[in-house]
Amino acid sequence: MLQKPRGTRDFLPDEMERRRLIERRMREAARRWGYREVCTPDFENLELFTMKSGEGIIGEMYVFEDKGGRKMTLRPEVTAAVLRMYVNEGKVLPKPIRWCYYADCFRYERPQKGRYRQFWQFGVELIGADTPSADAEVIMLADDTLRSTGVTFDLHVGHLAPMKHLLADLAPGDQRAIMAYLDKHDREGLEAALVEKNLTHLAEPLAALGECRTVSEVFEIAGDVPERARIEETFALLDAQEIDYRPDFGIARGLDYYTGMVFEGFAKNLGAENQIVGGGAYRLAHLFGGDDVASCGFAIGFDRVMVSIGDFALEQGSVVGVVCTPDARARALEVARAFREAGIRAEADLMGRGMGAQLAHAAKTADFAAVLGKREVEAGTVTLKNLHSGEQQERSLEEAIAEVARHGAC
Ligand code: HAM
Repeated sequence: MLQKPRGTRDFLPDEMERRRLIERRMREAARRWGYREVCTPDFENLELFTMKSGEGIIGEMYVFEDKGGRKMTLRPEVTAAVLRMYVNEGKVLPKPIRWCYYADCFRYERPQKGRYRQFWQFGVELIGADTPSADAEVIMLADDTLRSTGVTFDLHVGHLAPMKHLLADLAPGDQRAIMAYLDKHDREGLEAALVEKNLTHLAEPLAALGECRTVSEVFEIAGDVPERARIEETFALLDAQEIDYRPDFGIARGLDYYTGMVFEGFAKNLGAENQIVGGGAYRLAHLFGGDDVASCGFAIGFDRVMVSIGDFALEQGSVVGVVCTPDARARALEVARAFREAGIRAEADLMGRGMGAQLAHAAKTADFAAVLGKREVEAGTVTLKNLHSGEQQERSLEEAIAEVARHGAC
């Protein structure tokens, strides 16, 4: 038996309906803040992702050569693609630009629960606003979007300036390596790297940064940074709106493009892969031939949110199985159409089954049976059977539709 590729999943209808509901809630939250949906290609030129991060990330991507010999990759994330699109098509739009997306991403990772090779992100990008209010809006929107799904989480908000200030004397490659260990919370790797690079004096302040609970403590450890006023203002805006977050200046973020405010959210009930959102302020457009525009955004790990929420029952609306004798087939199609026009799901027999077998099938798959025999066809009626209670009554088609609708149309 052929199997699906490693790290991918199939979704049956129950799961798909739950996913669509949560997806809708996220889109609605973003829409309320003025963010409009965009869509970019599933694959891009490889360069789009290596320009900022270097060839190193090729190992984590689905890279291929197309028939024209061009190096392509399935997108590992959407931000770079959205900024490419901004440079291609969006430069003339009035700023700030508020865009959102729901898209699948592909990363060649070691699969485990909550970590897949194909996964979905719901994200936003706010392009062209470089203020504490812009940073705060993106954080508040992430908070609002996650809350709309019912997931419970802890939100951590930080800024890269204090950490970069501590690492200011390091070569860019070393700085990036140290930040990668911090991002992965890999203490052993970090210690070994600090010893190897003769930087053990940084171990204590780096650890202390992540422990700070107030902004003023951060500057005691890392020294004053020019971004201090901006950081304080962003946090004051979040406090004024009573956003439930924790200052965390140990956040390093895995992707290389962040420049300022950064934040992450963690589901309370997940194990190792509990990060359900990541984002921050960044600059990318200038790399793709555009202006050096300030941007800020986040992406929610949609699949992790679904794992965290768990299974839940959905209000499905009733299903009507249209059951008929061979002579009543034409009328059965009319009746099924009338139910559908009223927004009710109706299924007619396609198997050439007899009445008894049709009813038995309806009992497994439907809530009502609309039975049509010679008498009903002649009288223009249907016999509506409630398959849960067993009650049945011959009615006009309109009454039958009204009765099913009373139980909840889809
Ligand atoms: P990221 O932190 O790499 O950020 O990914 C965002 C979220 O996607 C993660 O927090 C996680 O929930 C989910 N995720 C990542 N990898 C996987 C995986 N293999 N399986 C399941 N879920 C995963 C970004 O992608 C940035 N583009 C976010 C951003 C938008 N920054 C600014 N704008």
